[in-house]
Amino acid sequence: MNILNIIAKKRDKGELTKEEIDFFIKEYTDGNITDYQAAALVMAIYINGMNEREITDLTLAMAYSGDVLDLSSLGEVVDKHSTGGVGDKITIILMPIIASLGIPVAKMSGRGLGFTGGTADKLESIPGYNVNVNEKDFIENVKKIGISLITQTLNLAPADKKLYALRDTISCTESIPLIASSIMSKKIASGANKIVIDVTCGSGAFMKNMDDAKELSRIMTKIGKLAKRETVCIITDMNQPLGYAVGNNLEVIEAIEILKGNNMPEDIKEVITNLGSTMLLLAKKVKNLDEGKEKILENIKNGKAYKKFLELVSNQGGDISYIEDTEKFEKAKYIKPIVAKKEGKVVKLDAYTIGTLSMYLGAGRVKKEDKIDKTVGFVFNKKVGDKVKIGDILGYIHANDEKKLDEILEKEIFEIEK
Ligand code: URA
Repeated sequence: MNILNIIAKKRDKGELTKEEIDFFIKEYTDGNITDYQAAALVMAIYINGMNEREITDLTLAMAYSGDVLDLSSLGEVVDKHSTGGVGDKITIILMPIIASLGIPVAKMSGRGLGFTGGTADKLESIPGYNVNVNEKDFIENVKKIGISLITQTLNLAPADKKLYALRDTISCTESIPLIASSIMSKKIASGANKIVIDVTCGSGAFMKNMDDAKELSRIMTKIGKLAKRETVCIITDMNQPLGYAVGNNLEVIEAIEILKGNNMPEDIKEVITNLGSTMLLLAKKVKNLDEGKEKILENIKNGKAYKKFLELVSNQGGDISYIEDTEKFEKAKYIKPIVAKKEGKVVKLDAYTIGTLSMYLGAGRVKKEDKIDKTVGFVFNKKVGDKVKIGDILGYIHANDEKKLDEILEKEIFEIEK
């Protein structure tokens, strides 16, 4: 078999066989296919798509490109994943809640991809927090305290690790076959037998419209079934950033404050309760979704979720004094207000625009080896639907580059109508 023929076949809109897909994944993982050849094939898949059979074969080849974790010693593990968004700090808030309700949490999260942030980068904002943990310690952590949140360091779905980073650098993130296979391969390899997926939809998500979000959900649910992993997809809105903060340190601070029981934004509450109650139902911890929603909110109120988060951070080597006092997080050099020049109602705060501007400030990666700036981003005071008066502070820009800050201040980030 020859990679050039495989690239040419997909370039010419052909259907790849299971053998061709297996060959590509194995040889790319082993380093026998170069990044530029893989980039050509990925671009051809992006442009010409894949049918359901090809997507399933790609997913399974990626899932079995490395080790497949056996979490059976932990009991019923229900995993959660998001297709990505702007301001998405849901894992950091929801997983300690789930662990505090007695469901083991063994979760691997990705790094920032394109204009969306990544949970692993956000967790690393906490000084000392180690996201690189070996398999034995990962499972031991879950046995000991009920939760471990790490990144893809184990040899799980290594093909996805390479492809994910590659896609980020060649503008090939928004593709149903590539997203479905990326997510489901990781989920299959990471051992959970029940999976809840947050399929984000809107300008700040990879799926821009409902039809695509439904199609991605349908395919992932089907792959889950074939792989005997019960999978539920929940479509959530990503037209404006989730919550009020965007940027690594800033989002972690917002997540911590929510876990402490302070001011949960309505959109975050909706996602947390919808995903969380579905996870509880799949784990048979509740009889219905309403009971699940109550339990989720109760464990924030009674402090159990926060306590679990402190345990998690401490167990992963993080400095909990930052959690106890979020003022300790490093700040950007410049923090400037965005001031309303008009009176009326906010009709748009575009998630994609905010995601790309955060990236421009340094919060995301352009190349896979780029270092990210943890301190930069946005903290909003107003969101869509809020009334504003001239002179109101709509939010703050956190920047380390004064020129970029001034450029962004010139833009009309908020659309306000009378
Ligand atoms: N999340 C993933 O894990 N993979 C994607 O391709 C997109 C979002």
